[in-house]
Amino acid sequence: MIISEILWSRGYLRRRSLQALAGFFAASPFARAQQDPFRGHPRIPKLDELATAFDFEPVFHAQVPRSIYDYTMYGVDSEFTLRRNRQAFDWVRLLPGAAGAATPSTSTTILGTPMAFPFLIAPTAGHGQLHPEAEMATYRGAEEAGATMIVSNVSSLPFEKIATAAKSPLWFQLYPRPEMEANAELLERVQAAGARAVVVTIDQQASVYERALHGRNLAASPPRAPRGRGGVQSANKYRVNEGRLWYEWKLFDELRKMIKVPMAAKGILTAEDARLCLDHGVDAIYVSNHGGRSLDYGPSTLEVLPEIVQAVGGRVPVLFDSGVRRGADALKAMALGASAVGLGRVSRWGLGAYGTPGVKKILEIVQQEFVHAMRNAGCASLASIDASLAKVDLP
Ligand code: FNR
Ligand code: LAC
Repeated sequence: MIISEILWSRGYLRRRSLQALAGFFAASPFARAQQDPFRGHPRIPKLDELATAFDFEPVFHAQVPRSIYDYTMYGVDSEFTLRRNRQAFDWVRLLPGAAGAATPSTSTTILGTPMAFPFLIAPTAGHGQLHPEAEMATYRGAEEAGATMIVSNVSSLPFEKIATAAKSPLWFQLYPRPEMEANAELLERVQAAGARAVVVTIDQQASVYERALHGRNLAASPPRAPRGRGGVQSANKYRVNEGRLWYEWKLFDELRKMIKVPMAAKGILTAEDARLCLDHGVDAIYVSNHGGRSLDYGPSTLEVLPEIVQAVGGRVPVLFDSGVRRGADALKAMALGASAVGLGRVSRWGLGAYGTPGVKKILEIVQQEFVHAMRNAGCASLASIDASLAKVDLP
């Protein structure tokens, strides 16, 4: 070996060229193909291996990008209310029934819509993030499981498109806009397309989602905040949007004139607000804290449900969501006076993890748990679910 070769083989240039070669391989598609895209999830379980709604969450995590996972999961600020929504179910115990009910009847009719089970798909934004067929995929899963879907005002597909394909009733959720003509035009369209009820969401006015703030520079394409909303797109320094702070109760008087089908108010957390809704022509009270995405350190929905039910006094149905993951959770809410419960994240987990079959399966799991809980509590029908079933020990 001549001296110059020896120098090269030990020298800086050689290290540089080897480094460059290694860099090429590290970044190359060959190297990438060797990596397990589901690190920590060696395989995606088959649908029939999943036993509870909770089992879908890690699969959902593995199947969608991090920013999309966070968008579904996060709550406002320090996520106290998000956690409290779940904790609250531990503070209510169900008392077993002496007489069992072999095959409980679970059917009901709410706001004129017949339902096989008292479960609704709570309205959630942009299913296109979770599945290429977006709300169509959710709708099919819901229909196959016999659940009524509330289509969000900020859905990925227009309401009309889903309604054209739908065989069973759909409800529409509205985020009112300050321009009343815009509300009128939209409401006319969705009612013409067959919306059987309109759910007007009035909570979540200026929320900050810290997971989205932290993630905003990391995500390849952060989830888009719906029009007029805060979150990642808001222009002001704190990314707080004032978009909904103009709401007043008289809004319902105006909307009432535009809505010929039943109208529900979603986001009610106090007895006083429930009474005001009734004064302003609302046909159903939907108790919700937006799944912990509205006001942090606000109460869980389960703990305020009894006082709202009392204020409503049976005049209109009381719907309920935020934190429901199990059939027994639903039975607890119904024992405290809810007529039906909404599933928000649960439906998104089903969709993002497995598409339509996932939505169907996760709903069926919760429904089966509900039947099981009814049976053990000795309830032959939804009418026999009452406060005598539940023992509440709030901390
Ligand atoms: C929501 N929610 C909601 N509500 C609404 O009226 N319109 C909407 O577009 C949305 N979008 C939305 C997106 C995501 C990702 C979540 C998690 C929630 C609130 C939803 O209807 C419901 O109140 C909560 O999801 C209920 O809590 P759980 O079931 O998720 O715990
Ligand atoms: C949310 C909105 C869309 O919670 O309501 O993300």
